Amino acid sequence: MPKKLEIAKTAALEAGNIVLDHSSNIQIDYKETQNLVTQADLAAEKQILEILKNHYPDHAYLCEETAHDTDVLSDHLWIIDPLDGTNNFANGIPQFSISIAYAEQGEVLCGVVYDPNRRELFSAIKGKGARLNDRAISASKKTSLDQSIVSTGFYYDRGTIMEKTLNTVHALFKRNIRGLRRMGSAALDLVWVACSRYDAFFEYKLSPWDFAAGILIIKEAGGVCHNIDGAAMTLQSKGIICAAPQLIDQFLSVAKWNDG
Ligand code: IPD
Ligand code: CA
Ligand code: CA
Repeated sequence: MPKKLEIAKTAALEAGNIVLDHSSNIQIDYKETQNLVTQADLAAEKQILEILKNHYPDHAYLCEETAHDTDVLSDHLWIIDPLDGTNNFANGIPQFSISIAYAEQGEVLCGVVYDPNRRELFSAIKGKGARLNDRAISASKKTSLDQSIVSTGFYYDRGTIMEKTLNTVHALFKRNIRGLRRMGSAALDLVWVACSRYDAFFEYKLSPWDFAAGILIIKEAGGVCHNIDGAAMTLQSKGIICAAPQLIDQFLSVAKWNDG
């Protein structure tokens, strides 16, 4: 596994450089009105695939831009978001990341999330803890919601999911949370829970490439992830509720979406 992690790190660092190189000349296309893709997304994905396929030509690949239907239960699967936070990137907001995970039959075994603006590389190997660059990280020790900074995200939906997210935000403020953030890169939201910058995060609709690396990094940092209905988090989950270990029950009681 260390070899796979090293290759994933190399791919993430190279993709980060590509994305930064594109930041002076951003070319935007639209998948849907609110859902963009830029030349940087495509170039970063191409580079990541080239590096990984050079080492693992027989593995399966699930990538946001060019191969999004691959089975998440494949025997040997790489799950890639080449640029998480495209809306930020396209608007010149320096909050975006590259996420790469490796999974076997639905179980994530290693993962990296790279923030090229801060040069922060988050990583984990199953059973071996989580790291930010060279230092071990852990989820926060907070014990109550009124001490907590919570992060969320909005999918491109402008209907039920948006309304449920706003209702939960309202309910969290009623529980007197210390603050709420919406930074725009789910992969970074997750690893910021892992290193205790955030105490909790929820987003009701995400894809495996947004969270595959992040959920391993959170677990290895001692945090807890659930599906939005409170069930176990898997690569087939459609969204996430995660928090520091002593907060997760309180957080679920407010954020859980029973019929989500
Ligand atoms: C998006 C970001 C955003 C989240 C959206 C994701 P993208 O990913 O992670 O924070 O709210 O749900 O789709 O499209 O920038 O890769
Ligand atoms: Ca994404
Ligand atoms: Ca993306």
